[in-house]
Amino acid sequence: MEIDIQLLPIPPSPALLLNRSVVVLDVLRATSVIVHALSQGAKEFIPVPSVEEAFEKKKRYPPGTTLLGGEKDTQPIEGFDLGNSPREYVADRIKDKRIILRTTNGTQAFHLIALAKEVMVASFFNVGAAARRCVASGLDLLAFPSGDEGRFSIEDTVCAGMIVDQILKIQGKEITLTDASHAAHILFKRFENDLTEAFSLSHHGKRLIGLGRGDDLPFCARTNIASIVPVFKEGVIRSAD
Ligand code: MLT
Repeated sequence: MEIDIQLLPIPPSPALLLNRSVVVLDVLRATSVIVHALSQGAKEFIPVPSVEEAFEKKKRYPPGTTLLGGEKDTQPIEGFDLGNSPREYVADRIKDKRIILRTTNGTQAFHLIALAKEVMVASFFNVGAAARRCVASGLDLLAFPSGDEGRFSIEDTVCAGMIVDQILKIQGKEITLTDASHAAHILFKRFENDLTEAFSLSHHGKRLIGLGRGDDLPFCARTNIASIVPVFKEGVIRSAD
């Protein structure tokens, strides 16, 4: 099994995707929202690229079944039910609800890798479960950090490095790392004992702190608190069976 990492959030070549599983990461904060909310009983997520599309899509569903969530420029969106802090996604608000999610980087990523054989969603919350599912699939893996408006992001790459670390622990000898996955693994080892430090160094982490949303950093740095692995299929994200 080969593990590669797309260090920049640009569309991978279709040939690279065809026989791979892909794991999408946006730990600050879209994929943390998805993993957390599905663990709390949300029904499913529909990631959309724009605010307009979110409002349009909601009209297709019966009243009371569907919520709008996400952010624009890291801020809550007027007319939406929820922002993009995983701390808002509590069972009382989201149980059995469909959530149409619009974010700057995370929800865009799903449309860049839709050709992959399987698309999983991970954050630090479910990193171990995601690693086990990657190994069980038997497919080569491409980790896809969603980045920061087209740029490299430390926090997503550290999470990709932790997935590498967990897979090496499960199946060390049979794993081939590329230069990118080696580099992510080394980066993870640097921050292994203090993931919040990696978040605080990151551009997006600093922006969240500056906007008074710094409490999301330690919240999103908790590892292996969820056993689900959400899967993106035909435009919808649900917990895998
Ligand atoms: C994104 O998808 O760009 C992020 O989750 C942004 C954020 O949470 O502020």
